[in-house]
Amino acid sequence: MEKMLEVANEFFGLPMEEKMKLYSNDPSKTTRLSTSSNIQKEKIHNWRDYLRLHCYPLDKYTKEWPINPPSFNDLTCCVKVAVFWYSGLTMEEMDPLHLGVEIVSKYCSEIRQLGLRLQEAISESLGLDKDYINKSLGEQGQHMAINYYPPCPEPELTYGLPAHTDPNTLTILLQDMQVTGLQLLKDGKWLAVKPFPNAFVVNIGDQLQALSNSKYKSTWHRAVVNAHKARISIASFLCPSNTALIKAPKELIEDESQAIYRDYTYAEYYNKFWSRNLDQGHCLELFKNI
Ligand code: OGA
Ligand code: NI
Repeated sequence: MEKMLEVANEFFGLPMEEKMKLYSNDPSKTTRLSTSSNIQKEKIHNWRDYLRLHCYPLDKYTKEWPINPPSFNDLTCCVKVAVFWYSGLTMEEMDPLHLGVEIVSKYCSEIRQLGLRLQEAISESLGLDKDYINKSLGEQGQHMAINYYPPCPEPELTYGLPAHTDPNTLTILLQDMQVTGLQLLKDGKWLAVKPFPNAFVVNIGDQLQALSNSKYKSTWHRAVVNAHKARISIASFLCPSNTALIKAPKELIEDESQAIYRDYTYAEYYNKFWSRNLDQGHCLELFKNI
C-alpha cells in the first residue's frame, strides 16, 4: 500500500510535458490522464487530476502504463550499460519502469482478490450463494483512478470531486495518510472519513444497489480540497463485465412488488454514466421501473 502511494506520488511529480503525453478526455481510452471528472460534459470543473488505468487482465494493459520516470529512459544506451556494470544492481532493480509496473500489478491483483472475497461475503449476507454475485457479473473488469488534488488557494469555492456514487460494483479506496479530503453522506450530513493506517475505504457502487434490489445502497461521497497540501487517493473499481445483465435475483424481490430497477447490461449503464456529468443527479434513477 505504501509503495503504491509512492508510485502515485512519483507519477504526479513528473514534469508537465511528460504527463501531458497521456492526457485525454476520451472515457473509452484504457490508459489516460485527465482532469476534473467529465470535462466534455460538465459546466463546472473540479480541482482534480487523475490517471485512469484499466487493470484486468493485467497483461493486456500493463504495457500501456506510464509508470515511467523519464530520467532513466532519457539516458543513452551506453550510460545505461555503464550504470548497470558499476552499480551491481540487477536489470529489474535498475529499471524504475519495470519496478513501478511490478508494484502496481501486485497491488491490483491483491485488491482484486480482496474485492472478490468481499463480494462473496455480501452475497452471503443477502442470503444468496457465496458465488452468486461473482458469477452473475461475468468476467469482472477492474479500473483504477489515481487521484491527485493539488493545493487550492480557495478550497471553499470548489470540490476535488462533487457528491457522487460510483457507477461500478465495489470500490476499494486507499487514502493518503497525510491529508484528509474524503467525506460521505450519512443521515443527511457530510462526515469526514479520516485516513486510518493500513486500512481501505470500501464503497458500495450503483451495481450492488441494483443487484441487491436496494438492500445495499451505493454510498454518496465527495472529495474536498486543501489550501496548502496536495492529496493523493487511489480508487480501485471492480466492474461487471460489459455484457453482464444486471438484475436482482427473485429471492430479493418481495412477492407483490416488482424489482426496483429494470434489467440492463453494464455496458448500457456505463455509457449512460459517461454521457452525463456528476451534478445531473443519480444515474441509477434513470434505470428505475416505473
Ligand atoms: C473516486 C472517489 C474519493 C477520494 O475516485 O470515485 O470518490 O477520496 N475518490 O479521492
Ligand atoms: Ni467515488
